[in-house]
Amino acid sequence: MSRIAYVNGRYLPWAKASVHIEDRGYQFSDGVYEVCEVRGGRIIDERRHTTRLRRSLDELRIAMPMSEAALAVVMHECMRRNRVRNGIIYLQITRGVARRDHGFPPAGTRPSIVVTARNLDFAGNERIAAEGIAVVTVPDNRWERVDIKSVSLLPNVLAKEAARARGAKEAWFVDRDGHVTEGSSSNAWIVTMDGKVVTRPADHGILRGITRTVLIEAIAAQGLKLEERPFSVAEAYGAREAFLTSASQVVMPVVRIDDHPVGNGAPGSVATALRARYHDHAEAT
Ligand code: PDD
Repeated sequence: MSRIAYVNGRYLPWAKASVHIEDRGYQFSDGVYEVCEVRGGRIIDERRHTTRLRRSLDELRIAMPMSEAALAVVMHECMRRNRVRNGIIYLQITRGVARRDHGFPPAGTRPSIVVTARNLDFAGNERIAAEGIAVVTVPDNRWERVDIKSVSLLPNVLAKEAARARGAKEAWFVDRDGHVTEGSSSNAWIVTMDGKVVTRPADHGILRGITRTVLIEAIAAQGLKLEERPFSVAEAYGAREAFLTSASQVVMPVVRIDDHPVGNGAPGSVATALRARYHDHAEAT
């Protein structure tokens, strides 16, 4: 089946879907993005993703190129036209096309918008979750505003590649104090030996993941105790469980950190239960 992308007002076949060489996303990574999960032909937590998108745009003073209602229509249309049942929607908005100049382009420059959708290997992801994944730790060398979901992802790209080179699926960034901030494309969590679920507070040091926000509700509903505080790499090595969250991976058990098995080296019961119950708490549209 040929894929379709939404590009600046038009649904285009994949081969024709392109942006201008002077798009500021291409030249300066001057833009933001969102990734939403699609499950059973419905978009998960669309409202929360749109709210975060608006916040990212506001922080960078990029105008929203269309109403939220129109954006919802485009996202559903991309899902439908690409026959996505279980997968992701990717959405990117940049400051638009203008002659290369670091400062903002002239007032009235239209932001660029691209929306794509694709299926993911649902059964394959479940198999990976049943086994758990390995993560490695790397120094957090990103800027201070990683709370903005910007397409400027070079440290994340290098971190992910470092993970792959070491046979792992994700890299966890570590700040100067030895505390884990988050993953290269996910939020990081541990479960302590006495059963408390720990994740870093969503200040400017991490992206406030939508999966993270919804999972906090699921944790309360399951009667688990949550601690929002920084945790060290040493604490993670000695944790009973570890896991990560993101729209595309939902709750993914972590069974090895660097060369240390986590717990007994298999996915933990808390992570497994939270993965199973996540969608009871998420919105589907
Ligand atoms: N990544 N932290 C970072 C750095 C991320 O890139 C992501 C998401 C998250 C989790 O956010 P959410 O739960 O809203 O997906 C945390 C997306 C999926 C990506 O880059 O593909």
